Amino acid sequence: MRVKLVAGNWKMNGSLASSQALIKAVLPPLAALGRARYAVCAPFPQLTTLAQALRGANVALGAQDLCPFENGAYTGGVSGAMLADCGCRYVIVGHSERRSVFGDTDETVALKFGQALRHGLTPILCVGELLTEREAGVTESVVARQLDAVVQRWGWDTLGRSVVAYEPVWAIGTGKTATPQQAQAAHAFIRGRVAAAIRGLAEGLLILYGGSVKASNAAQLFAMPDVDGGLIGAASLVADEFVAICRAAQGAEETVRI
Ligand code: PGA
Repeated sequence: MRVKLVAGNWKMNGSLASSQALIKAVLPPLAALGRARYAVCAPFPQLTTLAQALRGANVALGAQDLCPFENGAYTGGVSGAMLADCGCRYVIVGHSERRSVFGDTDETVALKFGQALRHGLTPILCVGELLTEREAGVTESVVARQLDAVVQRWGWDTLGRSVVAYEPVWAIGTGKTATPQQAQAAHAFIRGRVAAAIRGLAEGLLILYGGSVKASNAAQLFAMPDVDGGLIGAASLVADEFVAICRAAQGAEETVRI
């Protein structure tokens, strides 16, 4: 049985003080929530301090990226080993902003995925199509290509140690959310593709939706059978919004279990 996960992606926002204040505001209400899981993916320089603040809490720490290589002569790189050492449990790989702004290719994303696993981190593998690709009707082939780049290198079974996030690029930071039906269709496609390789794995795989999730639309998205939670950008920076989204995930957990 899958348990919903809500992960905040803070992106390049906030100061150490504002991030600490945000954590302080969300921890008590989240501590009162039950089964669903929660995480925040913070900027690198804040990780060590936030790991302390999250000790013993039901909110895990994640990073937003990592170096595709092992420790060594990679100036400016942050390795998987370093993230694990800082107390990270998750790391986002292949976010569309890394792909489009920083030039991460499918190949780079696959290397990052491998580094995350090697150091005991759970990669949150982002996949998703551009607006032009959706309009051209190639959403499924784009998502399949992005997934295949990882599984061809590491094998399908490695997905069992990861989380997938479907993030249509046209919905990220635009206020334009995919409808629950659009999200469900893409998630079902991803799960079906994994099931064709390893059925048992597909049933347990968490597939998050990301792209303009807010308190007002989270419950409808999380009610979809193949939507296992969310990767939340802008709304994760607002304590009340993030808590409300986490509550929606918890609510969806309870509905499933009735
Ligand atoms: P958004 O970002 O919620 O601000 O659209 C989601 C993401 O980029 O992960």
